[in-house]
Amino acid sequence: QGYDFGLIGLGVMGRNFILNVADNGFKAFGYDLDPEKVKALQEEGGDLDRVNATDNLKTFITALEQPRKIMLLVPAGKIVDNVIEDLLPHIDQGDLIIDGGNSLFTDTDTRESYLREKGIHFFGAGVSGGAKGARKGPSIMPGGSREAYQEVKPIFEAVAAKYKGEPCVAYLGPKSAGNYVKMVHNGIEYGLMQLTSEIYDLLRKAGDMTNEEMHRLFDTWNKGRLQSFLVEITADILSKDDEHGPGQLVDKILDKAKQKGTGKWTSQNAMDLGIPVPSIDIAVSMREISALKTDRIKAEKLYGRPLPGKLDKAELEKMAEEALYFSFVITYAQGLHQLAEASEEYGYDLELGTIAKIWRAGCIIRAALLADIARAYQNDPGLSNLLLDASFASDIKDTLSSVRSLVAYGASHGIPLPGLSNSLTYFDAYTSGRLPLNLIQAQRDYFGSHTYERTDKEGIFHTEWED
Ligand code: 6PG
Repeated sequence: QGYDFGLIGLGVMGRNFILNVADNGFKAFGYDLDPEKVKALQEEGGDLDRVNATDNLKTFITALEQPRKIMLLVPAGKIVDNVIEDLLPHIDQGDLIIDGGNSLFTDTDTRESYLREKGIHFFGAGVSGGAKGARKGPSIMPGGSREAYQEVKPIFEAVAAKYKGEPCVAYLGPKSAGNYVKMVHNGIEYGLMQLTSEIYDLLRKAGDMTNEEMHRLFDTWNKGRLQSFLVEITADILSKDDEHGPGQLVDKILDKAKQKGTGKWTSQNAMDLGIPVPSIDIAVSMREISALKTDRIKAEKLYGRPLPGKLDKAELEKMAEEALYFSFVITYAQGLHQLAEASEEYGYDLELGTIAKIWRAGCIIRAALLADIARAYQNDPGLSNLLLDASFASDIKDTLSSVRSLVAYGASHGIPLPGLSNSLTYFDAYTSGRLPLNLIQAQRDYFGSHTYERTDKEGIFHTEWED
């Protein structure tokens, strides 16, 4: 009997994912050009009848049960196309190729239609949860043909993380729906990470808190409504001692954050769709500003830094919890709004409640909050923005004064809190029945005869502004 599942790319993610498949009772076969990686998997898997691997493509293809289910866990970009071209002469109509990487959704669309013409099913399936998630249960976001999904559904449901017994995977929609949802997941991830870093900065600068104190605070928060993977790992990070000297490792890490592009793609595409996601945009910009280390040091010498005034610690802790909750909600709200628009624009037919559900465990943005978000969309699948949900509205109202105080504190003491302030600004603008953009319309009409509408009459108007 052949193997149920094939996996190409036996790096850390691939090796962990295939072992997870095998642990769940499916026979799995891996392929990698590097014989060392093949050997490592064979050794770790133990029983070759359960999990095996090869560096020979033909051996790999013939080992698989038909229709073949072949997952790619290789770096996004040209490599995916190369692997597809290598596979094509050997596979058969009806076989299924699943790209588990962070591929750009437009690339997935191109690949899907190219392969559909050849009778091959192609899936873009976002996989979140890092190496540990791949091994113990990731959140999986598949998109492609609904019928073909049935072939792989039992395997994905078995290997995915479970939230109260429910697998964190679901068929999301046609074409690139899976990669798109994973892209926005990552945009939200960027936003939440930026916000967490700002709160950490406030606690140490305004509250003089030590890493140990912050560790305890994040740990406490992780038992409340802020319970989430990112808050949990922040608590861990803050208590990690530096092996090379006194103190904690976090203080020795260079303050330049790298990026592989998914956050930027989220922002770029949000602009294309005309959906505001400023909490995500600024998180991308902050990684870019962080890269300008040499200039930042010069500029600090030139301009100096204002001295932070101190805040009462107990009060600061309370305000910080509220501000983090507020801005997390706003960031999810923006990402979900983008998904709602993309669903219309690209015909994905996404169910936002289902997406929130499969994000409740396994993925990087998993959080207690997502159970409430899932409920909000289940109560009203057509909810245009999470901020319009009554139960979120009441929590948001309770946190607002803390957010305002902290953003004002940051502004007057020179502590950059762009994620918090963009979240607050988004909220203030979104909840303003009237914005000053009437003036912009007047200016546009003044210099370019671009016309305007009126509040008191129907129609399109133009005025000769200069007498
Ligand atoms: C996940 C992550 C993962 C990605 C990291 C790094 O969901 O498991 O999103 O897919 O590798 O987020 O992304 P950056 O290098 O862009 O920070």
